[in-house]
Amino acid sequence: MTQNREAWGSKIGFILAAAGSAVGLGNIWKFPYIAGENGGAAFIFVYLLCIGIIGFPVLISEVLIGRTTQKNPVGAFASLSNSKLWLSVGFLGVLAGFLILSFYSVIGGWTIGYVIETLRGSLSSFTSPEEAGVLFGSLSGSPAWTLGFHTLFFALTMFIVVKGVQGGIEKSSKIMMPVLLSILVILMVRGVTLDGADEGMAFLWVPDWSKINAQSILIALGHAFFTLSLGMGAMMTYGSYMSKKDSVVTASAQIVLLDTLIALMAGVAIFTAVFASGLNPAAGPGLIFQTLPAVFASMTGGVYFSFLFFLLLAIAALTSAISLLEVVVAYFVDEKGWDRKGAVLIFGGSIYLLGVPSALSFNLMADSKMFGMTFFDVVDFLASNVLLPFGGLMIAIFAGWVWSRTSVMAALKEGAEGLFENYPWFEGVWLFFLKFVAPVLITIVLLNSLGLV
Ligand code: PFF
Repeated sequence: MTQNREAWGSKIGFILAAAGSAVGLGNIWKFPYIAGENGGAAFIFVYLLCIGIIGFPVLISEVLIGRTTQKNPVGAFASLSNSKLWLSVGFLGVLAGFLILSFYSVIGGWTIGYVIETLRGSLSSFTSPEEAGVLFGSLSGSPAWTLGFHTLFFALTMFIVVKGVQGGIEKSSKIMMPVLLSILVILMVRGVTLDGADEGMAFLWVPDWSKINAQSILIALGHAFFTLSLGMGAMMTYGSYMSKKDSVVTASAQIVLLDTLIALMAGVAIFTAVFASGLNPAAGPGLIFQTLPAVFASMTGGVYFSFLFFLLLAIAALTSAISLLEVVVAYFVDEKGWDRKGAVLIFGGSIYLLGVPSALSFNLMADSKMFGMTFFDVVDFLASNVLLPFGGLMIAIFAGWVWSRTSVMAALKEGAEGLFENYPWFEGVWLFFLKFVAPVLITIVLLNSLGLV
């Protein structure tokens, strides 16, 4: 089966697809609002540090495990170790893909819904974020609206994944990622040229260290995982289609740089506009769906910017959603011998159904709570705060401690011989962060998520 396995058509195809997985709602919806809530520049500094010392080393490991074994997460661990423990880490990754995609598609649906609402003119008459909030409440409060757009978003995701690695994921990423970057540049230029934009820039770049506390550091670290799609085998799966002629280290560095650049650009585009309109940067999750529509409504030509912005979000969400579905599909194709179409229909369909109660968590099921959380919140918490950090921890331990140093380094040097000759210190530094720094810090995040520290 392995010789017929799919692969990326080109190196740039892989980079764009993996950056597409990394760049998502996490960058454009979540990063700006958590930065806003946690004081701006100082938080961004801590976040960048977490990306550099934990995200980057773990990303290299994930891509490397995938590239070396040319398998999905379960198959990858099975071929590198014969212990059941590591197999179950692979399974938890597939499970996390299942869970994350189910609720991710609900928010992805909202972004498409907002593109349509912009075109229908519903967003153009707001005079305050409160008014935008009322519309948001009534849209997300409508089961037909949330379910309808969840269905549409999911259908698009399945449509791309069914067409395969090269013909679906790579081809669509090569179109969508340049469009995403172009839109972001337009919005950023619009933001920094607004009167009063400098206050937004100061908020992003001038740190107020008093805003940093243990909680914000943990949020930054948890987000570093989510934003780089780490801890559940998405990058492992994408890495499994990568050629052994290319360097895993260089590719991972490019993915990290693109992901970080895009989060920061989104921050600039959003906060310059929010501050120029005198609105609150710490509006929380509603920043994008409530504060920004009010900003656009007060801007000349705002309807065009609003359209571009929600299109940007929809594209970012879609290129991430396809990577989540691919993890699950790759498992059934590689391990269980399913054909791609059947796996997409059956497992995509099941994930879609699991998303239904998440979509209804904002309306019909808003009052059905478990542990004080809606269904949506429970699934999000379990996947993002428990399964991803746990998966990341296990991947760091596997690459740092379980895989023999000789084999891991031989695998890493394949396609990257020049890099290790020019920077011989890289090996020691990478292993140090992987073996010691990442496991300790991730364990703290995990214990905190579970309320134990
Ligand atoms: N990295 C994506 C984002 O920032 O929105 C979310 C994500 C995608 C997480 C794929 C995990 C994953 F496997």
